[in-house]
Amino acid sequence: MNRAMPRPIGSHGVELVETLPARWYTDPAVFEKERWPIFGSTWVHVAYDHQLRRNGDYVAENVAGWPIFVRRSDDGSLKGFYNLCPHRAGPIVWDGEGCQANLVCRYHGWAFNSQGSLINARDFGGPPPEDMDLTPIQVDSWRGMVFVCLNAEIAPLHEWLGEFPKEVEAYPLEDYRFHSRSSRLVKCNWKTYGDNFMEGYHLPTVHPAMSRDADALNYKVIIKGDPRWNIHVMPPRDESTFGVFGWFWPTFAFDVFPGGFAVERWLPRGYSHSELIFEYFFADDATDVEAIVKFSEEVADEDVRVCEHVQRNLDAGRYQTGYLSPKWEEGVGVFHELVRAAVGPIDERIVVPLGR
Ligand code: FES
Ligand SMILES: [Fe+2]
Repeated sequence: MNRAMPRPIGSHGVELVETLPARWYTDPAVFEKERWPIFGSTWVHVAYDHQLRRNGDYVAENVAGWPIFVRRSDDGSLKGFYNLCPHRAGPIVWDGEGCQANLVCRYHGWAFNSQGSLINARDFGGPPPEDMDLTPIQVDSWRGMVFVCLNAEIAPLHEWLGEFPKEVEAYPLEDYRFHSRSSRLVKCNWKTYGDNFMEGYHLPTVHPAMSRDADALNYKVIIKGDPRWNIHVMPPRDESTFGVFGWFWPTFAFDVFPGGFAVERWLPRGYSHSELIFEYFFADDATDVEAIVKFSEEVADEDVRVCEHVQRNLDAGRYQTGYLSPKWEEGVGVFHELVRAAVGPIDERIVVPLGR
């Protein structure tokens, strides 16, 4: 439908809200416009304190295409940098996690101090050029979770999180120990998975087992004023494995279960793929741990299956935009508004990408 035309009125006299057009999910140019305002200018969860206990411990990650790493420095503080040497773009640390006593480039061995300043350009054959330091990024941790922010002008993490920490302060996250991690490369745009996270409308159809355990028809997405986060509650029927879900813009979420919780995040891997990561934490005396993890993984498989199919349909060029359920999909609408506000206007004609 042409966006200038009046929108249809639902049965309650409410103007219906359109979804983001398909192009926002299929066009690499849209992803390029999203990267800096959404992933470069928010705090993105990349690691945990437990991975960065000793001096020299590091975790490398890729934030919407930007290679970064965080590292425990000799003075005990956390530092973050682009994982990119100013000489010829070599990596300072290899992918993944590890411990590296010194910041020495893996390519030709330029050495940087723990603040990122160049201290030795190995065997360069002349004085090294000026301004050859590593580029720092913001890094901080909250309740054992390490976040980075590439944009130096964004407020510190604890300010940026707003009221969200108060909302989850009752959950004893620090009492839980890391249990396991799962990762899937999902063939969908990061927003396709995000949309799916924002609503409980699909539960009875996509997650029949979960809907037997819990009262899916009373699933609620609670938005308390700040559109950047929401809390989902689903009343258990008997002994549900699921209790509360929370989401924080753009792609950080957590699921609280009896005796533990999971962090769930979906990092864009280009415009057409997302890496869906679950990290599980449990109390030492938690029961049914393996069953809870298995159940959560089955639910994730169900979500991935439907999201990948939705993405193929968005790519097909037959669908342009739909309407959100006023009863169930308010969270999706709020998420879309955040995306629109961050990115600005986009030419909304359908473009079918080649070679997905
Ligand atoms: S790219 Fe780092 S020393 Fe050459
Ligand atoms: Fe789901």
